[in-house]
Amino acid sequence: MNTRLFLMAFAFAAAIGAKAQTEVTAPQNVYARQTTLLNGEWNYFVDLQEQGYYDYRMNPTRWGYFINAKMKNPSDLVEYDFDASPTLHVPGDWNTQSEELFLYEGTIWMKRDFDYEPRAGRRALLYFGAVNYEAIVYVNGKKAGRHVGGFTPFCYDVTDLVKGGKNFVIVKIDNKRHKDNVPTLIFDWWNYGGITRDVLLVDVPETYVEDYWLGLDKEVTGKKRILNFSLKLNKPVADQEVTLSIPELKIKQRFTTNAEGEIANCQLPVVSSKLQLWCPETPKLYDVELEMGNEVIKDEIGFRTIETRGKQLLLNGKPIFLKGVCSHEETAYTSRRCNCAEDADTLLSWARSLGCNFIRLAHYPHNEHAVREAERQGFLLWSEIPVYWTISWQNEETYANAERQLKDMIRRDHNRAAIIIWSLANETPHSDARDKFLGRLATTARSQDNTRLISMAMEVTGASNYVNRLQDNMNQYVDVVSFNQYIGWYRDVNDAPKMTWEIPYDKPVIISEFGGGAKFGLHGDKNQRWTEEFQENLYRENCAMLDKIEGLSGTTPWILKDFRSPRRVLTGIQDYYNMKGIYSDRGEKKKAFYVLKAWYEGK
Ligand code: GCU
Repeated sequence: MNTRLFLMAFAFAAAIGAKAQTEVTAPQNVYARQTTLLNGEWNYFVDLQEQGYYDYRMNPTRWGYFINAKMKNPSDLVEYDFDASPTLHVPGDWNTQSEELFLYEGTIWMKRDFDYEPRAGRRALLYFGAVNYEAIVYVNGKKAGRHVGGFTPFCYDVTDLVKGGKNFVIVKIDNKRHKDNVPTLIFDWWNYGGITRDVLLVDVPETYVEDYWLGLDKEVTGKKRILNFSLKLNKPVADQEVTLSIPELKIKQRFTTNAEGEIANCQLPVVSSKLQLWCPETPKLYDVELEMGNEVIKDEIGFRTIETRGKQLLLNGKPIFLKGVCSHEETAYTSRRCNCAEDADTLLSWARSLGCNFIRLAHYPHNEHAVREAERQGFLLWSEIPVYWTISWQNEETYANAERQLKDMIRRDHNRAAIIIWSLANETPHSDARDKFLGRLATTARSQDNTRLISMAMEVTGASNYVNRLQDNMNQYVDVVSFNQYIGWYRDVNDAPKMTWEIPYDKPVIISEFGGGAKFGLHGDKNQRWTEEFQENLYRENCAMLDKIEGLSGTTPWILKDFRSPRRVLTGIQDYYNMKGIYSDRGEKKKAFYVLKAWYEGK
């Protein structure tokens, strides 16, 4: 049998076996489910021309690399062999694992074998924490699905694709940038490619808890507080019994699902004096258990309220000032994608030394381990989707992509007390199309979660005679007015003391970015760029200037540490790093550190 016929037979067999597999909603709190970690060493090879996906007529081929063909006869022609190929560690970006991949943007194929034992009445879900940017996933040569967006989880029900014994999963990953993507072609961070977060095989019963909500109601009725509880099964099954337990609060209550397979808006009264609210000083998390049949889902949930009153920001009903800093999801010292609690812990310890109680997770949802670690350590969080600079506002597919990322961000973390603000965008140019796009996102965000604040990082719209104005139609949608300003760096060096502000909105104000660059150890006059003295002076002047802003409720200077960016090419100074860190990438404190720390101590 000649090779072509052999491959056709193989692909055809594979195609017949495949029942269309639908993508399923990534289960809430997936790490609390029965899971097999598929992390580790995955074989890979680079496919610059995507010949593993398209034939030489550039039509998608059925005989692609996803079928993992193996020679059977000595004369067989199979021009790839995963098992003979080098490996990359998952989770991890490819850029920092191999010098030749440092600048690589394109397609890479990755494969991993795994064992599986099917059990009656159980389903197998294949969960990815994140893959940047486009992922096409195959199990045993059959397509499970395609996902775009590099920072949110996705999941496939692969029950009909797996078999007892040896299985393999293959992922075609492509991190090429495109105008209509989210983010778009240009962004000021490293385009880390790969399977950047955990991969899990999740073992669930036919009917399982897909999602649940548990949070504190803002209403205070006498000596009682109310916990709001809702739950959704993966399918509309009525009369399923679910028991919710919060032992420390002596709560153990049974609920039954309705015809839609949901438990909707149940109120659990708690005596206020018995409830310790989550806040930075005491980040109290309660052990929570959900029991359904033999399944038990354990979680740790904090209870707090966040709201605004005029220009005030209220945490648990009390005014709070957000002493923040921006941070990318990039490790300290090694500058690679973070992917675990330990990676986060180092960065959090740096923020803590600064005296921070708040972190803006820029410019995309960070991994779940980092969010939970920040929550355990009492950091309030701003979480954002990468609607960054000028994306394709009129492209409906781009909108669907952005909305999907928004929903997935909210869905994964809506039980996290630490997250107080959902941010929809960063530095987007004014236009009707942009307003329409962001307005739709804001409406969606509110429909997904009306317990948190909505914002976005805007830009100063006008400045003349030292008067800075903020006029933005988006203010009708946000709860907090946030904007980036770079007085002292991109404009008006040494003019900060003269500046005044016109912000005509009765809402709290957050300065979501300010700052300037400095190379650690470079010293000189305060007017000499890139010196620590220049950055120190800029911070001193900016902090004094910001103190004059009425309703200032927080700041998140740009940025915690120097980070990789392809847009920063100044040799000897930047060398592909954005140098606006308050710390160097190696954790060295620049002089501005002490200015900001002192300012925050005064808050
Ligand atoms: C922008 C942007 C950041 C960028 C920063 C800078 O405001 O939001 O992503 O890194 O400015 O120029 O350093």
